[in-house]
Amino acid sequence: MVKDFQVIKGFIVFEGLDGAGTTTQTALLTDKFKAEGIICISECEPTTNYIGKVIRRVLGGDVAAAPGTLAKLFAADRNEHLYNPEEGIVARCSRGETVISDRYLFSSLAYQSLRFGFDNVLKLNMDYPVPEHLFFLDVPEEICQNRLEERDQREIFEKKSIQKDIVENYRRAIELYSGSGMKIHILDGTLPPEKLGKIVWSKIT
Ligand code: TYD
Repeated sequence: MVKDFQVIKGFIVFEGLDGAGTTTQTALLTDKFKAEGIICISECEPTTNYIGKVIRRVLGGDVAAAPGTLAKLFAADRNEHLYNPEEGIVARCSRGETVISDRYLFSSLAYQSLRFGFDNVLKLNMDYPVPEHLFFLDVPEEICQNRLEERDQREIFEKKSIQKDIVENYRRAIELYSGSGMKIHILDGTLPPEKLGKIVWSKIT
């Protein structure tokens, strides 16, 4: 990739299909850091702030939005997540804290590209810095679907037919960012959570 990326030290991201286990691994890693006495904040995208709340309404099907609107909402939510002067990732990491995010811009490239186009989504996210570590939890679509069937509510991106395209977009995004300076770890997300958690920890330390 031609562009120079800023790498945020202390920022860690988990990515994967719905049902891949990003939320579980985010929680396990946060606990591990805390047990080691390291200040660590666990967050997610969409965030829990005002823009994230609107996004959840769109994902839940309460309100309709054009594909470009949703892509821009995610980008705006991310901007606030990164740059909020007090609570933002950049501010926290520059104070020496560790921030773990369940999803980041790679989710936009994987999901919003379906309806808005990869290059358009890339343009919206191109200027954002990258994490020190990106963990992609690799789980076959069928297993993710089985895991999701055990949950009550489905959001708009959880339909079976589009999972293959989402994975393909993830691979494209990871390839594109391979020279960005962040450490990319593609791990077998079918492993038992605790075992996977140990592998994650070994990659960080
Ligand atoms: P998810 O991590 O599944 O949250 P929850 O466990 O609360 O449902 O994320 C919600 C959805 O948001 C998921 O289907 C992926 C989607 N998403 C995007 O489409 N684009 C993005 O940029 C992000 C961060 C998430």
